[in-house]
Amino acid sequence: MDDSNIKTLHPIEKKIIKSIKNKSGSSINSLKISTDLNIDQIRRGLEWLKFKNLISSYESQHNIISLGTFGIKSINDGLPERRLLETIKDGYSTISEILKTGKVTQSEINIAVFKAKTNKWIQIKKDEKTGANVIEILKDPKFSSEEALLQKIYENNILSEHDLSSDELTTLEILKKRPQFVMLKKSEEFIRLTEEGERVQSILESEKSSLDSTDGNYDHSLTSDMLVSGKWKNIVFRPLDVESNTPLLFPGRTNPLIDLIEEIREAFVSLGFVEIEGNYIQSSFWNFDALFTPQDHAAREMQDTFYLRFEKNDGLENRRIVRNVSEAHKKGWNYEWKTSEARRAVLRTHTTPVTLQYLAKKNPVESKLFTIGRVFRNEKVSYKHLVEFHQIEGVVTGHNISLRDLMGIQLEFYKKIGITKVKFWPTFFPYTEPSLQSMIYNERLDKWIELFGMGIFRPEVIEPLGIKNPVLAWGGGIERIAMLKYNLSDVRDLYNNNLGWLRGVQKFQL
Ligand code: PHE
Repeated sequence: MDDSNIKTLHPIEKKIIKSIKNKSGSSINSLKISTDLNIDQIRRGLEWLKFKNLISSYESQHNIISLGTFGIKSINDGLPERRLLETIKDGYSTISEILKTGKVTQSEINIAVFKAKTNKWIQIKKDEKTGANVIEILKDPKFSSEEALLQKIYENNILSEHDLSSDELTTLEILKKRPQFVMLKKSEEFIRLTEEGERVQSILESEKSSLDSTDGNYDHSLTSDMLVSGKWKNIVFRPLDVESNTPLLFPGRTNPLIDLIEEIREAFVSLGFVEIEGNYIQSSFWNFDALFTPQDHAAREMQDTFYLRFEKNDGLENRRIVRNVSEAHKKGWNYEWKTSEARRAVLRTHTTPVTLQYLAKKNPVESKLFTIGRVFRNEKVSYKHLVEFHQIEGVVTGHNISLRDLMGIQLEFYKKIGITKVKFWPTFFPYTEPSLQSMIYNERLDKWIELFGMGIFRPEVIEPLGIKNPVLAWGGGIERIAMLKYNLSDVRDLYNNNLGWLRGVQKFQL
């Protein structure tokens, strides 16, 4: 670090460097006392200083000694035996005279006398006149070894047993017997300056005055005054590290499923499709009958479809259409079609009634439409089935369009959402002919997965509604795509509102 880089040190880092004891190192706790910073500031500052190679930390293997409550008190007020000496007037006093001064308490007096005697500071005599015990000061009461050690611990904030001489270790044993004078801890994190750190510390020490003054050219925050006056040009600012680690933030975000719906909507729109919407509640007529689904079809049973208690006459107002649909069913499926069955209201089981209705009403010559929305099926909820889920549906109508166009559009659409390996499989729907199933290949799972159903609406579907041009249609569930995209093996996870998952969810290649 050259000297100009000292300017990159944050004020907190400088404060810490200046407080680290050069030889013994400093514990985090002692830095807390000497810097007056809070523990988080110190920890963060230390991380940075480590990163800048100015400090190193090590785990001390020895007992760490620091002052306890009475130890600290003794630094300020003196040990009881020292205070005892101070209360003795004119060379000698009685115990009751000493206690009266209040400087030594009843609970301290015994130890104070005992220690003062052991230190050879005092002797106890009988007063010749009164016969009472008096305490007399002997000459020159020197600093005791206990006082010296307490002072040493105090000055270093914290010490390791390693730093003590054998005499001091003996004294430590004595001090340990006095409750709450010293504290011992096995191993503790110690911070030491590296060679470079020591150099920086000495530079900081020598620049102390200029650093501390507000006119010094470090540690400034840019103010509007500086900008207006142009003063900023002469100021050296501490550079910002834009790559530094920051705490993780979890701002509000859209649900991953909504993100996917948006992505799919975007894909449709970018291909020139127009979005349409329809109701969740449909007449059976639009959900099934107009789609040439016979009234005894398995999909229409209660186990598959949610029926509502009321009727819905949508589509049944137009006598001509009703007659046409009825005839198509009679002819195609050979049974007596009933309007009462067609009137039953259902929660839509797919989005196809939405597109079909639109085409029947508007009868466009050419159009590209899509719809995205919720559908409902009376199924047992499991890892792969939900009762409510989302479908997307696209339709294209126009002159001279064919199955080839349908497959081509599919490929374009899949490419937009990141799917490139697709194949088509024949299948069956009552309302399309031919009918196809698209399969997509997922690299991660190394598997072919069914995606959309599709086909060309049958004449039995479009003719009764007066639709002239062929209609290409496809549709299917979004949750299935979401499971691939977010690597889920259980579709219910999309709706669990598990915050951990929602915050960290990653997208995978489809
Ligand atoms: N409606 C079909 C489904 O729910 C999908 C489909 C849409 C099939 C359009 C053909 C044409 O799976």
